[in-house]
Amino acid sequence: MRFTGPTYLTQRSFRLVALVTFIFASSLSSCSSSLEEELAPTKPKENSSVDVKDPAKGSGSDAGQGTSGQSGEGEGSSGEGAAGSGEGAAGSGEGGSGSKDGAEDGKEPASDPAPTKPGTPATTPGAPATTPGAPVTTPGTPATPALPAQPKPATVVPLKSAFDFPVGAAVVKELLEKPEYANTVSKHFSRIGSESDFKWGSVHPSKDKYTFAKADAVVAFAQKHNMKVHAHTLLWAHDGNEPKWVKEFQGDAAAWEQLMKDHIYTVVKHFKGKVQSWDVVNEPIKEGGVYTNSIWYRKLGKDYIIKAFKFAQEADPQAKLFLNDYGQEYGGKKMKELLNIVDEAKKQGVKIHGMGFQLHTVLRMEAKPIMTNLKLAADKGLLIHISEFDISVKYGMPATFQLSDAMNKAQGEKYKEIVSGYMKVVPKSQQWGITTWGVSDKTSYFNKGYPNSDHDYPLLFDRNYQPKEAFYGFLNAGLGK
Ligand code: G3I
Repeated sequence: MRFTGPTYLTQRSFRLVALVTFIFASSLSSCSSSLEEELAPTKPKENSSVDVKDPAKGSGSDAGQGTSGQSGEGEGSSGEGAAGSGEGAAGSGEGGSGSKDGAEDGKEPASDPAPTKPGTPATTPGAPATTPGAPVTTPGTPATPALPAQPKPATVVPLKSAFDFPVGAAVVKELLEKPEYANTVSKHFSRIGSESDFKWGSVHPSKDKYTFAKADAVVAFAQKHNMKVHAHTLLWAHDGNEPKWVKEFQGDAAAWEQLMKDHIYTVVKHFKGKVQSWDVVNEPIKEGGVYTNSIWYRKLGKDYIIKAFKFAQEADPQAKLFLNDYGQEYGGKKMKELLNIVDEAKKQGVKIHGMGFQLHTVLRMEAKPIMTNLKLAADKGLLIHISEFDISVKYGMPATFQLSDAMNKAQGEKYKEIVSGYMKVVPKSQQWGITTWGVSDKTSYFNKGYPNSDHDYPLLFDRNYQPKEAFYGFLNAGLGK
């Protein structure tokens, strides 16, 4: 776990970092073990009971904002480490409070939503469960009635066949070597990306060394199955996710700009003609609309973002370039600042073609504010990509819970509601598509090494790669059912 160094950390957060580092170190083994287990012959996974930390009691630096995530200054997930819980705040999607400010009617949002950073879902203490089938939060009150099952076709049709826009999955290169994973991806998806194989830590492990083998394998899989590729991400704007050597690089602003340019030119040119679109900068803005204090921000100021897009545009003028973040789907100053960046880039003649809304969300999230903000971005003429879609269901559940029938159905309905909403509010010509962050619950990043991990069911396919209600909800949105 790396952080920017004691000078940037108050004593309180330093203790937090120490705690997170301990949690991270203990969870790392579950990270690699989960992945190794996935690749090795399956053996029953010990249901390790994990303390369910109430994320709301985290120490988010944004008061009342839920709890920690990766975008903390000073820690976070990294090519060398998994997610940590930063000084910053986050939770995954529970904080849809953005709908309470002006965002709903498209006016300038007054306040910021609670964050949605994935990792451990934020909770709004005491908030009633509002979704049928969601866990009963007040002992003694009857569980809400289960929703009806999704209509199902006689045979499992490919998900991609129901949509005019690309339906994607973020993959892990090593898992593509596993038949049930690879077959699920090739059958149901028309685009792939990767959770980490295009990241700086994977392709550029030291200043004069580029290693493209993993990302090339992802591209080769896509080409074999006639799929598009959306690559994530040229820059990830916080220190937990850029390699150690980058953070230790010495030079003046011109040298830092050259370092960024060399990386972007080399990587984008390597994949020119094979990768149709890029997340150029990931998560540059925090809740409240402030810039994440990343090494790039410190060395080059906030214009590093537009510089990154300029270099990417020069390296591959055909590629579509995206600004990717989380939480702006709930409005607030974060959304406003991201749109300001798009406007400023335009003034400088630099293309930002689209916005990625990660949408790591939770079962109880209202769809309305999400649609309001997708439309806000679409009204700017941006391509709209739901780029890391998953719906966590573990809020309020014991650490080792099983997915109930009622929750399964509620999740299917939520997938249908959000996918239908996307199709409704985003003009067809701007629907860059929807990418799920992973393939099956078994290898979701929620179950790969985050504190309180290994017990969530956020994706379309279950741990045996069978389609869930979530799959049919997503499919039925496309079939208009
Ligand atoms: O490749 C190494 C492997 O060699 C090593 O044995 C293993 C154990 O140390 O680590 C492996 O690297 C891991 C990498 O995923 C590839 O699996 C890193 O430790 C781990 O930190 C990394 O986690 C990824 C995380 O981003 C940080 O890059 C998650 O899988 C990935 O799902 C997550 O994705 C992010 C998006 O990029 C941005 N939006 C949020 C999303 C979820 O946090």
